[in-house]
Amino acid sequence: LPKTFALNTGASIPAVGLGTWKSEPGKVGESVTAALEAGYRHIDCAAVYGNEKEVGEALAAAFKKGTVNRHEIWVTSKLWSTEQGPGRVEPALKKTLGDLQLEYLDLYLIHIPVRLAPDSPFPAKPEHAQEFDIDMTWKQMEEVLKKGMTKAIGVSNMTQKKLNDVLSLKRTVPAVNQVELHPLWPQDDLLNLCKSKGIHVTAYSPLGSADRPRANGVPEPPVLLDTDVVKKVAEKTKKSPGQVVLRWGIQRGTSVLPKSTNPDRIKQNLDVLDWELSDEDMKALSGIEPKVRILDFKGMWAGEGCAVETVHKFWDGEV
Ligand code: A2P
Repeated sequence: LPKTFALNTGASIPAVGLGTWKSEPGKVGESVTAALEAGYRHIDCAAVYGNEKEVGEALAAAFKKGTVNRHEIWVTSKLWSTEQGPGRVEPALKKTLGDLQLEYLDLYLIHIPVRLAPDSPFPAKPEHAQEFDIDMTWKQMEEVLKKGMTKAIGVSNMTQKKLNDVLSLKRTVPAVNQVELHPLWPQDDLLNLCKSKGIHVTAYSPLGSADRPRANGVPEPPVLLDTDVVKKVAEKTKKSPGQVVLRWGIQRGTSVLPKSTNPDRIKQNLDVLDWELSDEDMKALSGIEPKVRILDFKGMWAGEGCAVETVHKFWDGEV
């Protein structure tokens, strides 16, 4: 059973990583420490999460204590949209490396395919949006790769259309596309495209993100871990609903990034590597309805008053 997945760079990305989005400063450091002690070797960060300094302190403490060495762990971070302009990528990565107290990243991703004016507020308004220029940004990503500041580069939140735009540059093929992925939003077509191009897919919100931010007036999708199918498979396999859903992701060839700040759940989320779901259970999980993109960014980055006018446009109709 895979504990790591091979990337097109030759590197191996650990199948389970700790997500740090929505982990409060004051809590995220503790969760990184608990995760490394529980055996995690993959931490997923981003500048825009506003907690990289604290993650860095926890990493430094773990190195000092001897829990892990730098070369034993995988650290991902992401370029925020305000840093996509000319000459901005390298300084942004330098800042992230400083905050994380690292000399290099294992993977650096373009966080979302939206470019914002420097110093835009969060969330940004239409007047802060600038033309997304993948050619310019990808060139700068390739430069920091060449300099060794990161061992691999990739993208996040990219639709099939945007991924094809990157591929048509005919330069470095992204190592990873990190996207929302769970049984309610299985992304079969995107997954197939990535497989055929040698791009590994990492699943964010692999548990269905029950603590997601939701715009006012947007109907709530079901809570994935409370659905009958998930509960039934959990009972049958004597695993928790969270473990069942994470295992589903790994068996489909994607790495998964469960976020937790709770020590017990951090532990159980890693315990998904030495057992298997049957084809029948996999199929039942894949069949859960409704199919819905939970983090559609409505009211955040997409829709009236946001950087991109409509959700449909943000996701190139893949909604
Ligand atoms: P907590 O941090 O208190 O554990 P996602 O990664 O899909 O965004 O989901 C994160 C949410 O799921 C958080 O609210 C997290 O809460 C919760 N969570 C994490 N692991 C589990 C688990 N094994 N079972 C149930 N809920 C979980």
